[in-house]
Amino acid sequence: MSRPEDTPTRIAFTVEDLTVAYQGKPALWDIDLRVPEGVLMGVIGPNGAGKSTLIKAALDLVPRAAGTVRFYGQTYRQARRLVGYVPQRGSVDWDFPTSVIDVVMMGLYGRLGWLRRPGRAERDAAFAALEQVDLVKFADRQISQLSGGQQQRTFLARALVQDAEIYFMDEPFAAVDAVTERAIVEILRELRGRGKTVIVVHHDLQTVKDYFDRVTLLNVALIASGETGQTFTAQNLKAAYGGRVSYMADSEQGGDDDNDVMLVGD
Ligand SMILES: Nc1ncnc2c1ncn2[C@@H]1O[C@H](COP(=O)(O)OP(=O)(O)OP(=O)(O)O)[C@@H](O)[C@H]1O
Ligand SMILES: [Mg+2]
Repeated sequence: MSRPEDTPTRIAFTVEDLTVAYQGKPALWDIDLRVPEGVLMGVIGPNGAGKSTLIKAALDLVPRAAGTVRFYGQTYRQARRLVGYVPQRGSVDWDFPTSVIDVVMMGLYGRLGWLRRPGRAERDAAFAALEQVDLVKFADRQISQLSGGQQQRTFLARALVQDAEIYFMDEPFAAVDAVTERAIVEILRELRGRGKTVIVVHHDLQTVKDYFDRVTLLNVALIASGETGQTFTAQNLKAAYGGRVSYMADSEQGGDDDNDVMLVGD
């Protein structure tokens, strides 16, 4: 059933005039972004484009030089229980002595408050999330003793138990095999199906059209953001990646779609 004309889609995530600099050098420049509720959005751009910085600035993990970020109209501090985060793998200290189940339970602390100890219901929720990412048998293992893909799935399970409304995932497909990638895609789609908003930093241009209904292209500045069909165009990709990649029309489609691009360079 389609939405009545007079019910506008709610905006889940808004960024206005956001600038972030490290040691005086801008990593993001004057970004404006509006992400409607219930979408699965890819964030793409070359290494160093500011993709992780966008998420970190939104979640108050790095200071903003200028601009505002809102989650359903609220600041991060007000909305933090609505926001789930799966960090980029390399940015996490995996030697931290903690077990898989404890990492997953950390996702529940927003709901519980620090003072209440998790009980049976929370443990069940954590195990259900581990089941979803096929990690139950590793529940008591130290996170330092997991493979890269298993570590990634641990963080996904933590985000799932949090029952957030807006999820930020920084390269959830890095270091995972094809089977895990399919499993993660299914989870992302399930979240979208439940009306969640899912924002995913992604590197594989070949899968963008398949995975995401919206896409944001970044390279310090915002290149474009919108529905994948209109936004994931050769022109925007060229603007984001410069001369480092080249494209050609996808001949399997009969060449009738100017927006179809195929990565042929590196
Ligand atoms: N803590 C920091 N201190 C100084 N510079 C930083 C810091 N974090 C990131 N940068 C710089 O800011 C820019 C953007 O980094 P960011 O991690 O946001 O890029 P990215 O788009 O996520 O890249 P990748 O695809 O490699 O993950 C880069 O030039 C990076 O070197
Ligand atoms: Mg990054």
